[in-house]
Amino acid sequence: MNSRAHGAAYTISENASLRTRNSLWVEARAALLVEVRQEAALPELLGFARFKTQAPLVLGAGSNILFTRDWPGVVLCLDTRGIEVIDEDDAQVRLRVAAGERWHDFVLWSLAKGWRGLENLALIPGTVGAAPIQNIGAYGVEVAEFIEAVEVWDRASGRLARLDAAACAFGYRDSLFKHERERYIISAVRFRLSRERALRLDYAGLGEELAAMGVQQAGAPQVAEAVMRLRMRKLPDPARIGNAGSFFKNPLVAAPLAQALRAAHPQLPYWPEPDARVKLSAAWLVEQAGCKGLREGDAGMSAQHALVLVNHGNASGAQLWALAQRVREAVRARFGIELEPEPRIV
Ligand code: EPU
Repeated sequence: MNSRAHGAAYTISENASLRTRNSLWVEARAALLVEVRQEAALPELLGFARFKTQAPLVLGAGSNILFTRDWPGVVLCLDTRGIEVIDEDDAQVRLRVAAGERWHDFVLWSLAKGWRGLENLALIPGTVGAAPIQNIGAYGVEVAEFIEAVEVWDRASGRLARLDAAACAFGYRDSLFKHERERYIISAVRFRLSRERALRLDYAGLGEELAAMGVQQAGAPQVAEAVMRLRMRKLPDPARIGNAGSFFKNPLVAAPLAQALRAAHPQLPYWPEPDARVKLSAAWLVEQAGCKGLREGDAGMSAQHALVLVNHGNASGAQLWALAQRVREAVRARFGIELEPEPRIV
């Protein structure tokens, strides 16, 4: 690999391995890897002809991506840091956070300052810049609730822009950025947090976990602690076994279909959505289709949580993807439901 550092601002490497940069530990290569440490370098860098004609693949912590092949162009890593208070009063704060900040570190920072809201989203792997793309969510909360605006480099206009939350079209594990991957490069996210927000303890298991911790009157830090305990117990640790969290989205189906499935399978967990659709548990469908713990070579579905695709060692991206297809087919054959992958598939 041939690397060149351009001052402190960025580094460019040729034919770079991405194995340590994706949490599924897949060996894939980038023709060119550009690591940016200073946000101020973005306009100059992204103004280069190469970025105008060819969209880079933007990689955060690599915790929600499956490479099934090498990337023939530029992989762009924003390693920028910084949490800036835009303004605050006794009740609320507005923050601007650089895309490269680690999500969980930011959650802990906000809790330590006494701000509420992000406690249910503790321990989600990934960067702040990646959070809006799939609208990360856990334990009944989605990040979209706290996002005021997303700052981007807009490849269409060749300049920096700020998109307010409405323009981001947030949905369940979805946003504008998933559909306009080639157009926007997220450089920072603006959040609004408050001191007095009601805690959200309704998601199954959370109240029980707080009780098991002996907590009577929970504050936001205790909720975060409970969420971390639940996640550590339920989800395989990406530091120990390659995975990208939930591999499939929970399917959203029309109410009559959900009713029919529930009649045939009364145990099927479901959550009614505000738009009259019903969200079904993909983990349950995968488990009942006989795929929990399924393994082919080093590619597998976790025996700990049915929805998590895992790399037991040296599975290639293509092998992992093939296993995922098998699971999808098994669920389709058994329940007639089409599961959609949650991570980005390259
Ligand atoms: N279940 C099974 N088998 C399993 C695991 C779970 O049948 O092996 C059933 C259980 O009945 C359980 C239900 O599935 O009650 C839901 O499981 P869980 O609470 O673990 O949530 P999930 O729907 O599988 C979603 C998110 C997670 C998030 C959790 C908690 C998606 C795709 N996943 O998972 O997010 O942490 O809720 O809020 O929405 C991620 O997006 O990568 C992720 C981990």
